[in-house]
Amino acid sequence: MLAKRMFGDPKVASLPVRPAPPDRAGDGADPAQTVKDKLRVAVVDDNQTNCVLLSHMIRRLDAFQIETFNSPFDAAEAFRNNKIDIGIIDHQMPGMTGTELIRHIRAMDCCADLPLVMVTTFDQDDVRLEALQAGATDFLSKPVNAVEFRARFANIVTIRRAQIALQERADRLALEVEAATRDLCELEAEVIFRLSRAAEQRDGNTGQHTLRVAAYAREIARRLGCPNSFCQDVFLAAPMHDIGKIAIPDAILQKRGPLTEAERLVIESHTTIGSAILDGSSRPVIALAAEIAAAHHERWDGTGYPQGLAGADIPLGARIVAVADVFDALTTPRPYKAAWAPYDALEYLVRGSGQHFDPACVDALVAGFAAILTILADHVDPCPPEAGAAFDPAI
Ligand SMILES: [Fe+2]
Repeated sequence: MLAKRMFGDPKVASLPVRPAPPDRAGDGADPAQTVKDKLRVAVVDDNQTNCVLLSHMIRRLDAFQIETFNSPFDAAEAFRNNKIDIGIIDHQMPGMTGTELIRHIRAMDCCADLPLVMVTTFDQDDVRLEALQAGATDFLSKPVNAVEFRARFANIVTIRRAQIALQERADRLALEVEAATRDLCELEAEVIFRLSRAAEQRDGNTGQHTLRVAAYAREIARRLGCPNSFCQDVFLAAPMHDIGKIAIPDAILQKRGPLTEAERLVIESHTTIGSAILDGSSRPVIALAAEIAAAHHERWDGTGYPQGLAGADIPLGARIVAVADVFDALTTPRPYKAAWAPYDALEYLVRGSGQHFDPACVDALVAGFAAILTILADHVDPCPPEAGAAFDPAI
C-alpha cells in the first residue's frame, strides 16, 4: 500500500502467539493429521520391564510416538522442552517420586494442562490424594489391567487431541486478528498521508515535506526518550499539523508579498481550523494530531498563537513538530529563497531554544542530527515548489 511504501511499516499491534510445538509427524505434514496421529507419550518408570510392557500396550491402541524414561529427571527435561503430550508416570522412583515429578511438571508453563496419569497400587489412597493435589489427571492401578488401561487411555487421548485442536484454532485466530490489525493500521496511515498531502498541495509543497516532518518528529521523540508507541503516533500525526490550511483562501495562502494584519489573522486560523477538523476522535493518533494542529505555532516563551501557551502547557507533540516543521521549512528551497544549509538551520533553532522552541526538543534535534541529515537526504523534493508565501516560521 502507498502509505506503507511512503512511511515504512506502520504501527502494528503485536499479538502474542504461542510458539508451535515441535512437528509431530514430520515436515509438511497435514495439520489435521498432526492432531489425529502421533501424540507423544512419555512412559516414566525406573523399572525397564514396566516401561516395555506399558509401551507395548500403548502401541497396540494407536500410532503414538513413545519415549521411555527410567529417570524422572530425564523425563522432566523432556516435558520442559515441550516434547510430550501425555505422561504415564510411576509413583515409586528413586530420587523423585511420581507425585513430585507431576508437581514439577505442572509448574512448567508449557505443561499446565497436559494429561498426566499416575501408576500406583490399589491400596495407596494417601498417594493418590497427594498426586491429585499435585495435578494428576487420572490413575492406573498396578498390576495394569489391559481393559481398564484401554478405556482410561482412550479418554486421555481424547482430552489431549481436543486441547491441541483448540490451541491450533486459537493460534490461527490470533494470526488472523494480527493480519486484520495490520491492515487497519496501514489503512489509517494511508488515509492520514493522503489527507495531509491534499492540504499540502494548497500552498505548493510536495509530499516530501509531509514525510520529512513526520520522520524528523519521530527522531526527536525518540531522542527525548518517549515510549515507542508515542514515537509512532507522532510520526503518523505530524503530517496533519497544517491540515487547517485547506480552509484558507488561495489569495492569502499563496500571496507572495507581505501580509496585512487581517490576512495574517486568517492564516493563523489554520491552527484552530485544523484542530476543529481533527477534534473529538477516539483514535489516539487523531487526538494527538488535533493537539499538534492546534498548538504547533505556540512558542516556549508564550508569544506564539493561537492561545499564547508557554512551556509545558504546550502539548509535547506540538513542541516536537514546531522544531521539525521549522527545520524543514529552512532547509528546503522556496521560489524566494534558497535552501539553508542544515547546520545553519540547526544554528537558527539553537538560537531560538528557550524562546521559540522547547530546549529539550532542540537538544534532541542536535543529538539526533546524523539521523536528521539522512532523512533529509532520503526525501529530497523533486523540484522546488512554484508557489508559496515568503518564509515565516510563524506560519
Ligand atoms: Fe502551521
